[in-house]
Amino acid sequence: MAKPFYQLSTEEEYKKAYNKSVSNPEEFWDEIANTFQWRKKWDNVLNWNFSGPDINWFINGKLNITENCIDRHLKENADKTAIIWEPNEDGAPVKTYTYRQLHEEVNRFSNVLVNNGISKGDRVCIYLPMIPEAAFAMLACARVGAIHSVVFAGFSSRALSDRVQDAKAKMVITSDGLVRGKKKLLLRNIVAEALEDCTSVETVITIRHTGDKVETNHLDKWYHVELSKASPEFEAVEMDSEDELFILYTSGSTGKPKGVVHTCGGYMVYADYSFRNVFQYEGDDIFWCTADVGWITGHTYIVYGPLLAGATCLMFEGIPTYPEADRFWKVVEKHNVNEFYTAPTAIRALMACGDDLPDKYPMESLKVIGSVGEPINVEAWEWYNKHVGKHRAALVDTWWQTETGGIMISNLGNIGEHKPTHAGLPLPGIQPVLLTAEGDLMEENGKEGLLAIKFPWPSMIRTTWEDHERCKNVYFSTFKDHYFTGDGAKRDENGLYRIIGRVDDVINVSGHRLGTAEVENAINEHEHVIESAVVGFPHDIKGQGIYAFVICNEVLDENAYRAEIENKVSSIIGKIAKPDKIQFVTGLPKTRSGKIMRRILRKIADGSHDQLGDISTLLDPSVVDDIIKGKVN
Ligand code: PRX
Repeated sequence: MAKPFYQLSTEEEYKKAYNKSVSNPEEFWDEIANTFQWRKKWDNVLNWNFSGPDINWFINGKLNITENCIDRHLKENADKTAIIWEPNEDGAPVKTYTYRQLHEEVNRFSNVLVNNGISKGDRVCIYLPMIPEAAFAMLACARVGAIHSVVFAGFSSRALSDRVQDAKAKMVITSDGLVRGKKKLLLRNIVAEALEDCTSVETVITIRHTGDKVETNHLDKWYHVELSKASPEFEAVEMDSEDELFILYTSGSTGKPKGVVHTCGGYMVYADYSFRNVFQYEGDDIFWCTADVGWITGHTYIVYGPLLAGATCLMFEGIPTYPEADRFWKVVEKHNVNEFYTAPTAIRALMACGDDLPDKYPMESLKVIGSVGEPINVEAWEWYNKHVGKHRAALVDTWWQTETGGIMISNLGNIGEHKPTHAGLPLPGIQPVLLTAEGDLMEENGKEGLLAIKFPWPSMIRTTWEDHERCKNVYFSTFKDHYFTGDGAKRDENGLYRIIGRVDDVINVSGHRLGTAEVENAINEHEHVIESAVVGFPHDIKGQGIYAFVICNEVLDENAYRAEIENKVSSIIGKIAKPDKIQFVTGLPKTRSGKIMRRILRKIADGSHDQLGDISTLLDPSVVDDIIKGKVN
């Protein structure tokens, strides 16, 4: 496929594009957006203020994103493969869908939605394994104008229930079961439990995948039955640029996860722009992103970005270590993957399995290998570069967030300087700054500051679902006229950014964001727990592990309590939030105003007992000693 003018190939082109994107952002994005298929062009490109926040891109433009993901490719590339699905079991049949077949699948699914009462603006919750129907379901929602809210299928029934209730979803799309490696989950049964408290849900569409017998009730419709009644034709619903496309829940430092809202026009333009430029996709390349569609990475770089670009995208149901720890490399070789995108936690886990596994596979097809979700340490960067990229493929360390919708800071393929642990330069259109805690601009390089963005970009968060105030407070109130990322970062002498990590009470476990308050609330539900405090600590594989300090009214059996607390957290949030370490304590270090000093707990958790700093402001400094000594009762 021909490259569009905005896919940059050299450092000079990047610099030129970047300068234009800053000096004349509206013209810059206008020209790019013009290459998409719109039902009606926009009146003006951008209206914004960060104090609302009120951000509008491509104002009054009318479109349907799926016409850009699918229909637009039918003229010349109908027979190009859109999706290759590699199943959990090695050697089991692979499924492929051309753009023509994708068109038909999404049209049929759209009819299933509409036949079951879904229309524009309704929320549909998707709780599915990594099967092609997950992509079809998302696209079908977008095609009928419904707002999808995908919930990662590793989340528990409680977490699912919270998200369904918050969005007041009218429908849930799930499957009978899910397989991941050797593990199996009966998703429909988890949904049944979740829906006990959800009055908004009128229909559950269940896709038969594992063939397991699951609970069904009056809400249920089997997908295959509905499909047999659905026409393969469907006229996409016209959407405004600023109509909501999806909600995706993510953790913050306080309270329950919030529903980050993305809208149609801007997200579309930036998903495509960032995909093409970062991964330098071309021709008949095969692109593989190993994320789950339940996360933003899966939204933007499994579904929307690649399909907008008319790419062939591989979707993988399994895990990197099943049946053996060479599965990723085997799949790369089997499908001749050209661009491969994964997370540092997977790289570190595979690194621990030995060099000989990737070394058995030449992986000559690889041109770009990517990393996302958390800082990649030097050892993992070097290993990935040597054993997977074979020093041939360009390694892109991509920094972004659920809220940013697309990659913000990264190398563009092999353009520019590649420096381990540095994400690199901002993409055109992205204007990051480093600020001091007081909000002063740090122009000097080499010092750590707070990463903020001073100008809007098309795929940025518009609001948090039904709570605009929260969006304003979390992202736009820390610094006037800036979007605050919650991350600390440094810039080197050449302007390359290095992301240090979260500066708020969010921990990043295996690339998954978890709020400490969320985990603490779950722990506190244990009947004997009085109070708890959770911090992150360095973990060889996960990046950060979860360390919980827990006060109980009495600790009769430490091991039993530990297991019960782990189960509590798994059932309230999901296994990803299970604490790695639980220490029973008699008190927590608090200031006189009652605030827990997590700084001290973090030091204790990572073993730096001798670097606790000033503890004299604590209400009772002796608790620190008791924690270090391991006093329990
Ligand atoms: O702390 C940063 C970290 O992940 C956070 C965003 O998490 P989430 O919204 O779940 O999205 C993850 C996938 C886009 C950020 O605030 N993060 C993400 N990418 C990187 C990173 N930290 C360092 N380097 C990265 N490349």
